[in-house]
Amino acid sequence: MSDKDSTLAQFDQAGAQRLEKIYLTPDVVQQREQIFQLLQVKPGMQALDIGCGPGLTSLALAQAVGDKGRVDAIDIAPPMLQLAARRCEHAKQVAFHQADVLHLPFADGAFDVALATQVYEYVADLDAAFTELARVMQSGAQVLLVDTDWESCVWACRDETRMRRVMQGWSQHIPHPQLPRSLVQRLQRAGFAKVEVNTIPLINLAFSTDTFSGGMMGFIASFVGGLPEYGTQLVADWQADVSSMEEAGGYFFSLNRYVFTAYKP
Ligand SMILES: C[S@@+](CC[C@H](N)C(=O)[O-])C[C@H]1O[C@@H](n2cnc3c(N)ncnc32)[C@H](O)[C@@H]1O
Repeated sequence: MSDKDSTLAQFDQAGAQRLEKIYLTPDVVQQREQIFQLLQVKPGMQALDIGCGPGLTSLALAQAVGDKGRVDAIDIAPPMLQLAARRCEHAKQVAFHQADVLHLPFADGAFDVALATQVYEYVADLDAAFTELARVMQSGAQVLLVDTDWESCVWACRDETRMRRVMQGWSQHIPHPQLPRSLVQRLQRAGFAKVEVNTIPLINLAFSTDTFSGGMMGFIASFVGGLPEYGTQLVADWQADVSSMEEAGGYFFSLNRYVFTAYKP
């Protein structure tokens, strides 16, 4: 299966709804607020939301640019665009487009600011994608990219060997599961300057489905359980182990989101 087909399979109708639920949990809401503090978006700006998913970032961008600004939001997955369009139906300054980050349907220098949260790790040809991003940004424009290094995931369990096996399977859900460690150089190669990195940790100290890790557990189980060499019993045992860690001394989950800001010279 190509990376694009794998992305479309992960974000079918059920996958899109599951992700929307996770991204509405209080810890991800707080993460979005922290990300927006690093984004230099102002009223009247032309903003680009790359891989907009369920449109939570598109709506926040619409509020930031106001009535005199404009937000163009793209995504490759139609179920995501449907959720996003519904969320933003009253925000007339937002337009949605089904598009691949490799072929942005916009003129050179069209945008003042661009945001891509958890998107580029899904894209195999990153050099082409960042060259395309640089093309549509105007001189002086800021881009903000958020990506995860799944090696930064610390998740308490009883069976460490099984945990490592499951996380190895999960790393197959994207072509770049450790993208942050090479992102500074990749952005510089595409011509971006003043690249800076911040981290936002997501920490859960109790198991609940209304948290990032509680929601992600189902996402991971669904993907890894479908891999030929894994199977549903192994992931069910993994879920039972991790979700009951309170009885074995304590639930603990931590994961770093890496936030990169850069400018087109
Ligand atoms: C994990 S979701 C993040 C959604 C959104 N950025 C957010 O943070 O709420 C990743 C999104 O990137 C989209 N995506 C992945 N590869 C893409 C590509 N090549 N072009 C456009 N969108 C892509 C997916 O369809 C999905 O909606």
